[in-house]
Amino acid sequence: MARCYCRWRNVLICVCTPCICLVLLFFYVAVMLSMSMNSTTPAGTVVWESGPQSAHFVAPGIFSSNNNFPPVPKTFWELHLHRDAFWNHLQLAVDHHFNPILHPDNMKTGSDNTTFYESLLRQSFALVTDLDTTKRNLDKLPEQIQEFVSHMEMRDYPTLIQPDGVCGAGAKDEKEPPLLVLAIKTTELNFKNRQAIRQTWGHAGWVTGEGRNRSRGEQDGGYVRRVFLLGKESPEELGVDLSELLEIENKHYGDILQWDFKDTFFNLTLKDVLFWKWFSRFCGQTRFVFKGDDDVFVNTPKMITYLQDQLKKPNADETMKDFMVGDVIGAAIPNRVNDSKYFIPDSFYKGLYPTYAGGGGVVYSGLLTKRLHNMSKRVHLFPIDDVYVGMCMIRLDAHPVHHPAFLTFDFPDKEEEEELCSYHRILLVHKRSPYQIVKLWTHIKNTETQCWDVPLRNEDKREKKPKL
Ligand SMILES: *[C@@H]1O[C@H](CO)[C@@H](O)[C@H](O)[C@H]1NC(C)=O
Ligand SMILES: *[C@@H]1O[C@H](CO)[C@@H](O)[C@H](O)[C@H]1NC(C)=O
Ligand SMILES: *[C@@H]1O[C@H](CO)[C@@H](O)[C@H](O)[C@H]1NC(C)=O
Ligand SMILES: *[C@@H]1O[C@H](CO)[C@@H](O)[C@H](O)[C@H]1NC(C)=O
Ligand SMILES: *[C@@H]1O[C@H](CO)[C@@H](O)[C@H](O)[C@H]1NC(C)=O
Repeated sequence: MARCYCRWRNVLICVCTPCICLVLLFFYVAVMLSMSMNSTTPAGTVVWESGPQSAHFVAPGIFSSNNNFPPVPKTFWELHLHRDAFWNHLQLAVDHHFNPILHPDNMKTGSDNTTFYESLLRQSFALVTDLDTTKRNLDKLPEQIQEFVSHMEMRDYPTLIQPDGVCGAGAKDEKEPPLLVLAIKTTELNFKNRQAIRQTWGHAGWVTGEGRNRSRGEQDGGYVRRVFLLGKESPEELGVDLSELLEIENKHYGDILQWDFKDTFFNLTLKDVLFWKWFSRFCGQTRFVFKGDDDVFVNTPKMITYLQDQLKKPNADETMKDFMVGDVIGAAIPNRVNDSKYFIPDSFYKGLYPTYAGGGGVVYSGLLTKRLHNMSKRVHLFPIDDVYVGMCMIRLDAHPVHHPAFLTFDFPDKEEEEELCSYHRILLVHKRSPYQIVKLWTHIKNTETQCWDVPLRNEDKREKKPKL
């Protein structure tokens, strides 16, 4: 009797142990799978601590320290689809078409066929907006987003004013291809900002770099071009019609590029898309693009040296394909505060934003600009410009590089700013008035002999400072 019982126990152990193991393994795999699918953070995301100053002036989003992630859906395999969010649903149809696993052949089709892309975007738009659920949800979106959606298929706005067939002001007597074109977002009324920039950091023509040993006769520089990017102000709302003045301004400086769309915050993405198109046509040889706001101060001589250094690096030809540098923001969460200027409801966009460089000022290669131009044809417009650039970047499998000398949130503390050479250690700082820009320019010219060899700001210096 006892032997029989023993045998049964052995059989039970033999049968059950593998079963239990299998069940445990199944749970483990399921948990790991759902966790990995839940991490929407794209590869290469930089996540770092952020102080209270991190509320970006253009782009929304809090950093990942906030636990405000979208809730885990009950069926994890549906996680990435987000069909109830308008933009995600739209883009899904397009991305699906180019999925290298599902449609390996489609990667190549249409690469040089604009008509094809246009019809693809149009089809996905019609598909999504015809759904009853979408129709119901669209009415509930905030007015500003509804306005955006109603024009989001349109991107070929006519050019009203442009430099005379050249890539911006400064095209005279160049002995080599331009190193840098400064593309500055501005509005009709901001004449003062444009004038301050023209007379200071935005000077077009040959610009000498800073940071080489001049007593040894080492010097470098590059040709710089300049162009201002504008939409149209409505004369009725503004009370005056400035278009004639702008024509005169362009005759004088040759640096105005204006399109016929309303110059609003949610239309800023059009300035990227249309600038890329214009660049691809007129700026073929230009090595780098600076794109930024008209209320920043740029240390152009330092920038020139920095960019020359990038070109001298081994493999520069290869790295220039993806080169983008700025103040990189990772794992940003869309702004869900419904009375904010940056409000994006989750019925419009779900998930984190891709890693992107803050739109206050960013530099990228001419080659990348052309690739972004091509890629933008298959990415639906998004109301926030720097996030849109990030969305094109991940689809190119390119990742912006963070550089601490881009201060799109200003100096972290007054003490650092007040050091004699502080402005020689940076490439860009936001935000400065036209008056401050002129003063700062004089200041860096006056301190050049003392400060020409200070290195650019780096993360180490910031680490040493006590955190607030
Ligand atoms: C962009 O597309 C054009 C054709 O439309 C192609 O000739 C060009 O090589 C592409 N540029 C890049 C940088 O991929
Ligand atoms: C471009 O795409 C359109 C629409 O798909 C197609 O009708 C046309 O034949 C294509 N053109 C070329 C040159 O491939
Ligand atoms: C610059 O060159 C001079 C002369 O060769 C040398 O004495 C000096 O140390 C150099 N300075 C730096 C910062 O390299
Ligand atoms: C963008 O510009 C178009 C064309 O001027 C305008 O009709 C539309 O209202 C603008 N969109 C937003 C969101 O302001
Ligand atoms: C904004 O959100 C608050 C609370 O979250 C809500 O009470 C209010 O109705 C919302 N306003 C709009 C215009 O949706």
